[in-house]
Amino acid sequence: MKVSVVGQGYVGLPLAIAAANAGHVVVGIDTNPDLVAYLDSGRSPIRDVADTFISSVLGSFYSVSTGYESIGSSDVVVICVPTPLDSSHEPDLSALTSALGSVASQLVAGTLVIIESTVAPGTTRGLVADILNRAGVGYELAYSPERIDPANKTWNVTNTPKLVAGITDSARDRALAFYSSFVSSVSFGSSVEVIETAKLLENSFRLVNISFINEVAGFCSKLGIDVREVIDAAATKPYGFMPFYPGAGVGGHCIPVDPSYLAAAARTVGAPMRFIDLANDVNLSMPSYFVGVASGMLGSLVGRKILVVGIAYKPDVADVRETPAAGLISLLRKAGALVSWHDELVGTWNGELTSPLSAGYDLAILVNPHTGTDLGLLGDTQLLNTRGGY
Ligand SMILES: NC(=O)c1ccc[n+]([C@@H]2O[C@H](COP(=O)([O-])OP(=O)(O)OC[C@H]3O[C@@H](n4cnc5c(N)ncnc54)[C@H](O)[C@@H]3O)[C@@H](O)[C@H]2O)c1
Repeated sequence: MKVSVVGQGYVGLPLAIAAANAGHVVVGIDTNPDLVAYLDSGRSPIRDVADTFISSVLGSFYSVSTGYESIGSSDVVVICVPTPLDSSHEPDLSALTSALGSVASQLVAGTLVIIESTVAPGTTRGLVADILNRAGVGYELAYSPERIDPANKTWNVTNTPKLVAGITDSARDRALAFYSSFVSSVSFGSSVEVIETAKLLENSFRLVNISFINEVAGFCSKLGIDVREVIDAAATKPYGFMPFYPGAGVGGHCIPVDPSYLAAAARTVGAPMRFIDLANDVNLSMPSYFVGVASGMLGSLVGRKILVVGIAYKPDVADVRETPAAGLISLLRKAGALVSWHDELVGTWNGELTSPLSAGYDLAILVNPHTGTDLGLLGDTQLLNTRGGY
C-alpha cells in the first residue's frame, strides 16, 4: 500500500519504519524541517529506532517530507501528531486540527484515514470528520490508538496488540488489513467511541494507581518501612493485584495528559471523574512533597548543594516532556538551594548542561536514574530516592 504517516515523532516514526519494513511504500510527513533533514540523512532521533532501521528502507520503502503532496496518492493516511494540554490544562487539538486541514486539502476519493493521536471519545466522528469533509470526496475513517512504551525492550510496534474501530465496517476492515500486515495481533471494537475511551482508560488507570502508590509511599515513610518491600510482598498474590511504583510524579506525553482528555469529556456529559482530578492533584503535589522531605533531611535549603539525578520523565529515555524534575528543581531553587542536575541521556535542557556525578553535594535526589547511571560516583553524598526503597 502507499502510506503517508503524518507526524514523525515517538509514535509516527516507529510506525512508519515498521510499515516500510512490511513492504508498504511510506512517506513520513512532519512540519519540523530540522527533523525531516535529520531523518533524510538516515539518522534517528529516537533511541528505540536504530539508525540502521531508517537507512535500510530510506530511498526505497521510506521517504520523508515537510509537504503533504503524498496524501493525494496514498491508500492509507495515518495521523500521529501531538494532542497535549494547553496552559489551562485543557485538551489542545491545534496540531490535530492543522494536520487534518492539510490532509483535507490533498485528499482524494477512497483514501483510508486513520487517527492514532490520543483523543477524547467523539472526536473522530465529530471534529475529525468535520474537517476531512471539507475535501468534498468520499473517504473512509478509522481510529487506532498507539500503545508504544518508549524503552520497553519486550513490547514494540509489531508485537503490542493493536485496537481498531471504523466509522464504517469497510473502514474497520481496511484498517484491520493494514495493521495485520505488520502487527501480530489486531482486534476491533464496535465503535470508534469504544476504542477512543479504551485508550483513555488504559492511561487513566496508570495515573490513578501511580498516584495512589505515591500516597502509600508517604504512609510507609511515616512508618519507617520500605514501600518497595510492601509492593513486592503484595505482588506475590497471583491474581487481583498489579504492582505500581512511586516517584516524583508522572511525565511524558501520555500519563499526565490523556486522563485530562477523559476528565474533560466526562465533565461535558455530566459524569465527572473525581478519581482523575484527585490523581492529578496528588501527582502535581509530589515535587513539593519531596522538597519537604529534603528540608527534613537538611534543615534549611538555603545555599545547600543539591544534585537532581535523572531528569527524563522515566528511566532509559531522553524525553523530558512533562517531567516532574522540572517542578522539583524549580521549587528547590525557590527554597534557596543551589541545584544542579545530572542526566547522561538528556545532556542539555532549558539552556543548562548536565553536571557530572560526584561527591561533594549535600544531597542527591534520585528522580529517574538510567540503567547505566553510576550512583557510586556520588561517594558518601546523602541520597533521597523518590522511587522508594532505601
Ligand atoms: N509518546 C508516546 O509514548 C505515545 C504513546 C501512545 C500514544 N501517543 C499519542 O500519539 C500522538 C503523538 O505523540 P508523539 O509522542 O509521537 O508526539 P511527538 O511530539 O513525539 O511527535 C509529533 C510530531 O508531529 C509533528 N507535527 C506537529 N504538527 C504537525 C502537523 N500539523 N503536520 C505534520 N507534523 C506535525 C511534530 O513536529 C512532531 O515531530 C499523541 O496524541 C500522543 O498522545 C504517544
